Amino acid sequence: MKTVEMLIDGVRVAGEGTLPVYHKATGEVIAEICTAGEKEVRAAVDAAERAFHTVELSPYERYEIIMRAANLMRERREEFAEALSAEAGKPIRDARGEIDRSYQTLILSAEEAKRLRGQTVPLAGAPGCGNRMAFTIRRPLGVVCAITPFNFPVNLAAHKIGPALAAGNTVVYKPASATPLTASLLCDVFVEAGLPAGCLNLVYGAGSAVGRLLTADERIRMFSFTGSVPVGKALHEAVGFRRISLELGSNSANIVHEDVDDVAWVAEHCARHAFVNAGQVCISCQRVYAARSIYEAFCRAAVTAAEDFRSGDLMDVHTQIGPMISVREAKRIEAWVHEAEAAGARVLTGGTRRGAFYAPTVLTDVTPEMKVVSEETFAPVFSIIPYDTIEEAVRMANDTRYGLQAGVFTRSLAVANYCAENLEVGGVIIGDGATFRMDNMPYGGVKDSGVGREGPAYAIRELTEEKLIVLNVEG
Ligand code: SIN
Repeated sequence: MKTVEMLIDGVRVAGEGTLPVYHKATGEVIAEICTAGEKEVRAAVDAAERAFHTVELSPYERYEIIMRAANLMRERREEFAEALSAEAGKPIRDARGEIDRSYQTLILSAEEAKRLRGQTVPLAGAPGCGNRMAFTIRRPLGVVCAITPFNFPVNLAAHKIGPALAAGNTVVYKPASATPLTASLLCDVFVEAGLPAGCLNLVYGAGSAVGRLLTADERIRMFSFTGSVPVGKALHEAVGFRRISLELGSNSANIVHEDVDDVAWVAEHCARHAFVNAGQVCISCQRVYAARSIYEAFCRAAVTAAEDFRSGDLMDVHTQIGPMISVREAKRIEAWVHEAEAAGARVLTGGTRRGAFYAPTVLTDVTPEMKVVSEETFAPVFSIIPYDTIEEAVRMANDTRYGLQAGVFTRSLAVANYCAENLEVGGVIIGDGATFRMDNMPYGGVKDSGVGREGPAYAIRELTEEKLIVLNVEG
């Protein structure tokens, strides 16, 4: 069996123990990874800290290395996609799509290396500045820790590592233990692209032990985390005054107004956004607020779309949905749906589980207290809720502790504007679903959905310190 080692200071190393890696559809063990103990975590931070102080790469050199890594990833697209499909349970078509996005994310990151700039400060706009002038420059922070999730393991890692390196930081990278194989491939392409030893270090671990060791090391100046709210909150508490970027969960709302042209098209679109990646997307369509006059038609079309959503062999390009990341996760959503049913919800279609596979599920007659509404389902399940006025729809959409993105389907500029102004989220998508994301967008949430923004041009601001320089030109 293939054993995948960590990467510390440019060298592949074994660690304290090993963990099996499962094929998420078949359950077969496809590899094992070496996991870090205290010694390896310390060595990874030592290496990153040393590289930060000794490696001298100009922004242009950083641009070139990241571009080379992107191109190597593109050359190895199929190898990445197959590893991703197996370790994450992603249909091959979606896995290829994620690799294509990751390539773009790395290119966007590389370009940001060339755009790092501060600003002039117009001191003379206030009285008493004398003959002084001022400007700012952007400096890297130092060692950045990237902690990434299982749902988009390559692209979300590219979103953290790409801008961190572009800014001149060094990185300790801790991927989700469920999806470690593509993390290793990602490190390979950076090494092959000429990234000096110590600039990118990979440590594996399961549970919270490695995370605790990382947060305890004060040499790490920033944590960039995507994952669950409880882990994000614990990290936030642990890091003190150090920088942190948190991209956490959501229960995204989509509002479908009565004036939409084609209810069936919108329902099919929302369903696709609810079921893609088996619903394991932070901006998955989880709640649809449909105007009462189109509610019945929307429900009918959503059921048809759910029943047409194809499961099957992950390597078949027609397969649209694979397993969830684990049987445990599938059992969790099964229990949530049963709990909702017991409290009066109706399952219009789906609601069944086979191992880690959970069928595309549409619910109605839900209430705001039910977990399938109030918590992040992270599963192929969505609820349809009728509304009478747009104010009521926005009030219900905002009645949550989350706020990542929301979608609004309407032909009315006034309705679109009202929603844009009043929805409490990081991004409002008009004429499309909450799940829409391009990798150059600012992406992040409000409330419990996190702090900070990703998207290379936005992330790089958080990954640098804006430093003021004042010149007293009188001497
Ligand atoms: C996420 O689940 O946060 C990422 C969604 C995406 O990049 O499409």
